[in-house]
Amino acid sequence: MKIKLEDKYLNDFINPREYYGIAPQIKTAHELLHSGHGLGSDYTGWLQLPKNYNKQEFQSILDAAKKIQEDTDVFVVIGIGGSYLGARAAIEFLSSQNYNSLPKKTPSIYFIGNSISPMALSETLKLCEGKRVSINVISKSGTTTEPAIAFKVFREFLENQYGKEEASKRIYCTTDRAKGTLKKLADDEGYETFVIPENIGGRYSVLTPVGLLPIAVSGADILNIMEGAAKAHDDFLDDRIDFNICYKYAAIRNILFRKGKLIEILASYEPRFALMSEWFKQLFGESEGKDQKGVFLASVIFSTDLHSMGQLIQDGSRNIFETVLFLDNVKQDIIIKEDPQNMDGLNFLAGKTMSYVNQKAFEGTVIAHTDGGVPNVVLHLPDVSEDTLGYLVYFFEKACAISGYTMGTNPFDQPGVESYKKNMFALLEKPGFSLTNR
Ligand code: PA5
Repeated sequence: MKIKLEDKYLNDFINPREYYGIAPQIKTAHELLHSGHGLGSDYTGWLQLPKNYNKQEFQSILDAAKKIQEDTDVFVVIGIGGSYLGARAAIEFLSSQNYNSLPKKTPSIYFIGNSISPMALSETLKLCEGKRVSINVISKSGTTTEPAIAFKVFREFLENQYGKEEASKRIYCTTDRAKGTLKKLADDEGYETFVIPENIGGRYSVLTPVGLLPIAVSGADILNIMEGAAKAHDDFLDDRIDFNICYKYAAIRNILFRKGKLIEILASYEPRFALMSEWFKQLFGESEGKDQKGVFLASVIFSTDLHSMGQLIQDGSRNIFETVLFLDNVKQDIIIKEDPQNMDGLNFLAGKTMSYVNQKAFEGTVIAHTDGGVPNVVLHLPDVSEDTLGYLVYFFEKACAISGYTMGTNPFDQPGVESYKKNMFALLEKPGFSLTNR
């Protein structure tokens, strides 16, 4: 298996009886998911996706990415929630959080339409000035306000810069096969369109054109990502938690939640995992957080946040558990040199690599937090390759579905997301809307 789950730090918090107790519920969750009889089963298309994705569409994504790499300096990705987080997380995981600033042969990629901030949008427009620009507007519903506003602004920008006809060759739409304003607009204007399968919801859509086009534009090998996900598909079919670490993770989360560990902190030791944590938070938060249930998701990057949130984790309210995502093999390392005068007092580290020091920081922290009463489960990643990314995405998606079913929720809907929109539209005097509690 590409991911290793280390559970020895849970020994003081979960006893074998508890695993035995929850195993039948995990089995039931597995049956519900695979039989298509569970809540929200119309949205489980992601389950078989790595095995049966549309190869023709996949080729069109590769072709479009190649064209964009050739004729574009700045690629603007417009989308919110599940329509941008996965792509951004993947690009940073595979390349760097500094992807745009690093020397590269591929376009810079900016994500916009994920807020209603006029400052953020103006800033991105500025970054596009004098550059060859293409855009990818992504919205499954085709009606979401944030990306719709950003698209309106960027469409005008492109049409002013290139004229309507050339602009239409630089606009790529990723949306539903048939529904929504965006689909209609794309058809009317002749924009190249990619389809988000009907049976896959936003937060489970990173391995569809939603994520794959921007990721391919960044130069990553998307075939390898799909192969990694396919491996995970095969590795996580067993319904017994002793033989399936994906299900074991779902079991651990549920056992801890029922004991009052209401907050899960995803901790990693690589800044490039920060967006992956955001994707993870959306995946689990929107999937489980309903019917007055659900684990609250938080994230930290260590050792950075050991100097901010570390105090609270070590010593604050004991209602948290940590899932540590640890990278076992780094891409680049640095050897710490000896200073003849030992002015900085660091000669005890001379000859050691930074990754070794990071490893010891991880081991020391897990021991300290566990001693402090915080259960830790560790997920070891072998590398930051495409293959591992695909595997990890599928691992979390399936763990989330199984965990949600075990909790008794529908992991595939998000009814609560509509509430703020109703009030916002009422306050903006959109016809037909009134404040929810007045
Ligand atoms: O996971 C989800 O379903 C949501 O986060 C959506 O992705 C988000 O609300 C954006 O929706 P849409 O793609 O329809 O614009």
